[in-house]
Amino acid sequence: ALHLKQAAQGKVRIGSAVRASVLANAAEPAYAQFVRDELDSVTTENELKWDAVEPAQGTFTYGAADTIVDFGQANQLDVRGHTLVWHNALPDWVKAYDVPGEANRLALNAILEQHIRTVVGHYAGRVKVWDVVNEPLADDGTRRSNSMWQRRLGDDYIANSFRWAHEADPGAKLYLNEYGIEMDSAKARSLYELVRGLRALGVPIDGVGFQTHQMLGAERLSGLSNVMRQFADLGLDVAITELDVRIPGVPATGEQLAQQATAFATAVKACLSVPRCVSITTWGFTDKYSWMTNNPDPKYAGWGEATLLDASYVKKPAYNAMLATL
Ligand code: XIL
Repeated sequence: ALHLKQAAQGKVRIGSAVRASVLANAAEPAYAQFVRDELDSVTTENELKWDAVEPAQGTFTYGAADTIVDFGQANQLDVRGHTLVWHNALPDWVKAYDVPGEANRLALNAILEQHIRTVVGHYAGRVKVWDVVNEPLADDGTRRSNSMWQRRLGDDYIANSFRWAHEADPGAKLYLNEYGIEMDSAKARSLYELVRGLRALGVPIDGVGFQTHQMLGAERLSGLSNVMRQFADLGLDVAITELDVRIPGVPATGEQLAQQATAFATAVKACLSVPRCVSITTWGFTDKYSWMTNNPDPKYAGWGEATLLDASYVKKPAYNAMLATL
């Protein structure tokens, strides 16, 4: 097959996170061309996060997200909306509600409800899949205590968020998205119990997204198909939603690029082996525009080259391995 989406046809949908600013940049035609040629699906990398879409209370700014949604519609791509409820990317006006008290709790709950209903309603019929709740758990499997949603609204915010999103667009597929659940672990088991509980209550959740960010040399992929199958057995779809494999000590050696290719292939194989794994989305597709290129966070210092194409859009071994595995 010539392109990823052709190789994947009838098996799985192939997508990537994209940036509106680059997609709309006429001086960067290779970016939009890759999306059109290779992909079935696009995810908003940052454009639907809270600080982007409701920067002031009741003021909704859809311009950047519309660039991606319109591009998707024009090119018959699915659009994954990322993300409605997350502990990061919150504007200061929301953070101001991170205080104790019952009056505050009620106000914050109403703010969350309005945000979800408004944004999902705005894109009803155009955004096919939503990452409704992103990263609700801490690495030890407990509820994330540095989430103001968890801290101020308690466990119920998750079920309520799915219910509001479903009411705003009954046709959208609603996902819970998490990282670090790609192997059997306290976090993966805890998420399983959380999702099982939601299903038992009749909460409208359709799928679980496995972010699948990987570190070369410490890949955690060998249990991925097993964990996916467990969630699928609850009657849910599963998906790889943010695949990338960052390399330490860039520039990478040829050997590192070959190992990276193996990791991409392993992730693809895991999804293909699970009938309810419906899509594989990479978190960016060129090292020119990847969150792992020059990430200012010191914990990522020296890491990079995490995607399928190099910074000049040349296909890396990872691209070829993914194409060959599909
Ligand atoms: C990242 C984006 O890629 C960056 O551009 C931004 O500065 C921070 O967020 N898990 C997620 C994504 O669910 O939303 C994050 O995206 C990467 C980790």
